[in-house]
Amino acid sequence: MIFYFSGTGNSKWIAREVSVYQQEKMISIADETASRDAMLHYTLGESEIIGFVFPVYSWAPPAIVLEFIKKISFTNYQNHYIFFICSCGDEAGLTLQIMKESVYTKNWKWKAGFSVIMPNNYVSLPGFDTDPKELEQKKLREAVGEVQRINGILSDRTEMHFECKKGSLAFLKSRIINPLFNKFQVTAKPFYATDDCIACGLCEKDCPTHNIKVDGKPIWGDHCTSCLACYNICPRHAINYGKATIKKHQYFHPDYKNLF
Ligand SMILES: Cc1cc2nc3c(=O)[nH]c(=O)nc-3n(C[C@H](O)[C@H](O)[C@H](O)COP(=O)(O)O)c2cc1C
Repeated sequence: MIFYFSGTGNSKWIAREVSVYQQEKMISIADETASRDAMLHYTLGESEIIGFVFPVYSWAPPAIVLEFIKKISFTNYQNHYIFFICSCGDEAGLTLQIMKESVYTKNWKWKAGFSVIMPNNYVSLPGFDTDPKELEQKKLREAVGEVQRINGILSDRTEMHFECKKGSLAFLKSRIINPLFNKFQVTAKPFYATDDCIACGLCEKDCPTHNIKVDGKPIWGDHCTSCLACYNICPRHAINYGKATIKKHQYFHPDYKNLF
């Protein structure tokens, strides 16, 4: 059972690579969250492994992922192998620590956790943009070997194996900046479409939380996760987040159309 959340396809690609190799089914955290309000119960098969794959947002797991973990419970849990993989453009800060804290009250613990460096999709603050094309391609190439290596570790059911790239000033980034990000940046309010919008509907289709309706132009609802799928997928580059994204670049995983 591989639970995933993904805006621009990087984490979905990792989840797909792991689910195919480990022969586990993929489950969308966004869809599960939308379809059920209360607690989420999953029944585990005897030899099943459970994975969580998601992007790093402001040096921490996205709120939607932490909320999901809070709500889920497993029937038949008997020391099953449970791991997580976060995808990040550069560094994950205290993501590992925060993930460990997220299961303090559960009857299960993480057996393994990893970060995988993937192309950057974050553009909505001044000074942030997607990677130059050469770096983007290098990250995509290196991620293939990295995910293969991780699949080997998962197949061996290696326990207490944690490899998350913390980076510099992790406490400041994850404990001080991240709460400010969640309070002020996780909102669709600054999004707008320019006159270049052709109402193609791709932003509506690719929003993982189904938070957009295109009626002449996109209209954003109130459960935006700030994943930037809408900005990055727009074929006319017609979506902006305030002034911060003007003249910035776009990124979507090149294989996203084939990710089931
Ligand atoms: C809102 C937001 C915040 C981000 N914060 C970080 C970060 O703190 N560190 C980092 O290395 N990458 C950060 N990124 C980049 C993503 O983690 C990275 O591109 C990830 O692979 C995207 O995954 P996805 O394609 O599955 O959505 C951020 C991206 C977004 C949209």
